[in-house]
Amino acid sequence: MTDERHSSVAGQPATSDTAGALHSVPLPPGWDEAVRLDEDPATIPDPASVEVPAELRAEVERRMAMYPEHHSAVLPALAAAQQVHGWCSPEAIEQVAAVMQVTPAYLSSVATFYDMLRTQPLGSHYLYVCTGVACHLRNAKAVYESIEAQAGEQGLEDWEVREFECLGACDMAPMASIDGRFIGPIEEGDAGELVTALNEGRQPFPGRGLSDPGFRLPWADGGAAPDRPGPPEQPDVHPAGGTWKDAEVLDMPPAEGPSPHPRPLLKPLDPGTSEVPEPDEEP
Ligand code: FES
Repeated sequence: MTDERHSSVAGQPATSDTAGALHSVPLPPGWDEAVRLDEDPATIPDPASVEVPAELRAEVERRMAMYPEHHSAVLPALAAAQQVHGWCSPEAIEQVAAVMQVTPAYLSSVATFYDMLRTQPLGSHYLYVCTGVACHLRNAKAVYESIEAQAGEQGLEDWEVREFECLGACDMAPMASIDGRFIGPIEEGDAGELVTALNEGRQPFPGRGLSDPGFRLPWADGGAAPDRPGPPEQPDVHPAGGTWKDAEVLDMPPAEGPSPHPRPLLKPLDPGTSEVPEPDEEP
């Protein structure tokens, strides 16, 4: 029997052979429901009938004024709604739609695409631990797992704790965002104090936040990264053809290449044109 919650091969209905075999990831309920053509089209909310918190209205209008096309303000407007409501709830989306005069469906399509916009109520606060490439290379996965374990042990509630893909502060790797405060570099050993501070409502690691006064990376003054006790060594490589320093001729060829092919210059072009002047008449 066909599993209706699994996708099918493009253009063909899913069968017991195809469903689950090629696409075994469960899809959200309703993903394959037909468009409801019998329903009224999505409408733009009447601004007079939607109550919008004053600070949210002011922020959305401020953002809209920054762009010639007001649709460009959708992302910061949704971020502002998330800040006010904790997530992009249907109510928050309705309010932004009323101010921006777009359909809630349009805003939902944006909110569900971007990872940093939350379309589920997952806690009033968030702690994102970056496990993108740069952070991953600096032990971020173990840092995240330590924090997650501490959150479980210490009963951290009302916080969404999860991995995140590159928060854009790779020079602080491994780093985390605590309700938008970037801290780093963090280590596995920081996990306990980090979670304790969040549980007690304190700011963890004052001075280690990117926006904290006096913030400096530990290696900003020429020191070494904590787990790298000196400058990196060049790898000992022995390519089959030898290395450049083994070459007999160390004189590099000129960067500009060989000299131009000698070609007699007959007549220059007329200045400012591509016209070749008529040859001078023979006397
Ligand atoms: S990879 Fe972590 S901030 Fe970029």
